[in-house]
Amino acid sequence: MRVLIIGSTGFVGRSIVEELSKENIDIVAIVRERTLHTKADIVEQLKRNVKTSIEVARSLDKHELTNIFRNTNPDTIIFSAGIIRGKREDFEYVHIKLPSIIMDSIRSSDIDPLYIHVSSTGASNFQIDERPLPEEKKHCEHMDKLPTIYEKSKCIGEKVVVEKSMEHGIRYVILRPNIIVGRLNRHREWINIIKLAKLGIKMNFDGVTNILDAEDLAKLIHHIMSTERGVNDYYHVASPHNIYIYRISEIALDVVGRKAIISLGPLFAKFLRAFVMDEMMKRMLEFLNKDSRISIDKLIGKTGYSKDRFKDPESSMREMFMSILNRSTK
Ligand SMILES: NC(=O)c1ccc[n+]([C@@H]2O[C@H](COP(=O)([O-])OP(=O)(O)OC[C@H]3O[C@@H](n4cnc5c(N)ncnc54)[C@H](OP(=O)(O)O)[C@@H]3O)[C@@H](O)[C@H]2O)c1
Repeated sequence: MRVLIIGSTGFVGRSIVEELSKENIDIVAIVRERTLHTKADIVEQLKRNVKTSIEVARSLDKHELTNIFRNTNPDTIIFSAGIIRGKREDFEYVHIKLPSIIMDSIRSSDIDPLYIHVSSTGASNFQIDERPLPEEKKHCEHMDKLPTIYEKSKCIGEKVVVEKSMEHGIRYVILRPNIIVGRLNRHREWINIIKLAKLGIKMNFDGVTNILDAEDLAKLIHHIMSTERGVNDYYHVASPHNIYIYRISEIALDVVGRKAIISLGPLFAKFLRAFVMDEMMKRMLEFLNKDSRISIDKLIGKTGYSKDRFKDPESSMREMFMSILNRSTK
């Protein structure tokens, strides 16, 4: 079995590569030419993985992708590229235009892969009160209510995938993960929690969520690839187990071996939110005291994936914080 992945140099993509390689699956990792230099260490790691071969992409246009797809003939194509910060046109390119080019290139290369699209819970409407957040009845029916360009572009990107799949006869699965954690995570939000923990600062927020371990996402993808159950649909993905935000902070404190000397509560989040400019940070602060759980009933029902397979969120958090700490002390 051969899998081609676009987004292989990101946290999610690398976690998928790592997990699928254990399953003896051949991986073709597409890497942008400039990334050979900007993330040389990550590319080296990909190269060292005997099950992974690298295809360097110069333009990611239809001509180039058609050639790569035709030459490698993958059984599955996974799209895990994306951004959370940038200009409007960057969001539109990576979340909408790139998937559209990929779908057209699949068609013109005459291959017949399953296409797995990693989107985000952000494509769902968090404004409604029901929790855990159910999947909307009609795909992206609430699109005009989504508050940020991140969320909107994710939703429009999903729509493009659905429409082009139908037009070209491509089998697809759209996965909408909640917050993803894992050993390979390098995102600054988590690094900052470790920094705060080192100062003895506890985030005493009441929010509750259900996170997703990147390893679990990769195992789910493997299950879908091998069974082809649940294709041609979209799903929320997260652990069925909940975790409180204050517990996340307590685990960070425990990992760095500190006791809390300062406790930041709901008022602090409100205060900070009024000053931060970064749209994504504002959105995150909004959820610190909220219930942001998502429902995975549709996923379990249609793919037959067992709820028992998901890792315990507390151990996922601990593992990620320990790897961040180890990296920072190296
Ligand atoms: N992390 C989470 O908690 C989370 C939660 C839900 C959903 N997601 C979604 O999962 C996806 C991956 O997230 P991540 O955490 O792995 O992000 P990440 O670590 O920042 O990686 C992003 C990946 O996207 C690629 N990429 C970015 N801009 C690109 C462009 N213009 N053209 C081609 N490739 C581009 C990057 O390639 P280069 O290395 O070449 O820049 C990299 O491989 C995103 O769509 C994100 O929205 C993430």
